[in-house]
Amino acid sequence: MTIGIDKISFSTSHYVLKMSDLAQARGEDPKKFSQGLMLDALSITPITEDIITLASSAASEILDDLDKQAIDMVIFATESSLDQSKAAAVYVHGLLGIQPFARSIEMKEACYSATAALNYAKLHIEKHPESKVLVLASDIAKYGIASAGESTQGAGAIAMLVSQNPRILALNDDNLAQTRDIMDFWRPNYSDTPYVNGMYSTKQYLDCLKTTWTEHQKRFNSTLSDYAAFCFHIPFPKLAQKGLQKIMDKQLSENRKTLLIQNFQDSIAYSRQVGNIYTGSLYLGFLSLLENSQNLKSGDKIGFFSYGSGAVCEIFSGQLVDGFQDQLKSSRLEQLSQRTPLSVKEYEEMFYEETQLDQDGNACFRQYQTGPFALTAITEHQRQYQKV
Ligand code: HMG
Repeated sequence: MTIGIDKISFSTSHYVLKMSDLAQARGEDPKKFSQGLMLDALSITPITEDIITLASSAASEILDDLDKQAIDMVIFATESSLDQSKAAAVYVHGLLGIQPFARSIEMKEACYSATAALNYAKLHIEKHPESKVLVLASDIAKYGIASAGESTQGAGAIAMLVSQNPRILALNDDNLAQTRDIMDFWRPNYSDTPYVNGMYSTKQYLDCLKTTWTEHQKRFNSTLSDYAAFCFHIPFPKLAQKGLQKIMDKQLSENRKTLLIQNFQDSIAYSRQVGNIYTGSLYLGFLSLLENSQNLKSGDKIGFFSYGSGAVCEIFSGQLVDGFQDQLKSSRLEQLSQRTPLSVKEYEEMFYEETQLDQDGNACFRQYQTGPFALTAITEHQRQYQKV
């Protein structure tokens, strides 16, 4: 039995901030962002679009009624949690109308947890082959106005349906994780934005990659020449590019190097327009690769490097299956180009707008553009969502 990704989709906000506008406002050379970070734009969410609406919107694009009957687990990976108690997965389960006899939970370890979720889904299906598991990775990356990380913000959600006999990617059994207790990026409960040791975090990312890949090669006899593409966690595309350079094997044939570099460029196409979406970033890279590469074929082996600050990372792989192209969209870059551009002032007001609760815990919101779901109000401290 093969197990893996049967369907995948992505959702982001309807508003965008162009990096060239941010550069001008912050007195930076635009090339620092376009070349130094390899970012063109960041998705910006209004207060009515949150991790729950983004995830519901991504999942609603791929699930049909049969899926909703077969799903018996919803795993929501996030580090932008809205509630210390109730899992975001429970809201999504309700909004999508998934059959009631399902387990719905939230998982956390910075940007890494969607990978743990995928693995849990796989183990679950090994035991229950008829099940389907909905894995959601949804985050809003917010560092603060004019902060060092401001240029690497973003927002979006990935939804993946995991099943036996998947139609996109069959997962291999070669996962290798590494844990390091470090303070490169963290967000205590009392803070809305993370604390970050920026340069240190980039060094840790690259060193975790290098050491895990070296060990992966030893344990699984893996060699880059077997891979058609390698997807990376993408906090910003330039760091992922450095990651590829870090593991590039000098013995590789020129053809293989060219293939890996070309496919890497296709894997960053969406992140360049969206920014960091934390838990979903690795899988956004995978989706971007699938939908933009011209050379992928069934049987191709794809490598994955997942990284979450704090830190936990994991390397694993999968094989593309016959007909994977039929599950994809070709219009996503076009859709991204239709987002409403914001001035820097509008972005500052929108992205940092705070909920104004009255003394009874009620709040209402101005109307903004959202996807098919929106947060419409808060009533006695309870979030109210509607299909729009
Ligand atoms: P910074 O101070 O904005 O930028 O910090 P910089 O001075 O390091 O410059 C960035 C690049 O632009 C450099 O390229 C410059 O040379 C280049 P490099 O030398 O590194 O190749 N540059 C230019 N290029 C062309 N023309 C110019 C120009 N000027 C400069 N005129 C930093 C960047 C990433 C530190 C900051 O944005 C930050 O703190 N971001 C947040 C942290 C982060 O993203 N860390 C990544 C690793 S940790 C991770 O991935 C986990 C995470 O996703 C969270 C989680 O797990 O939950 C973040």
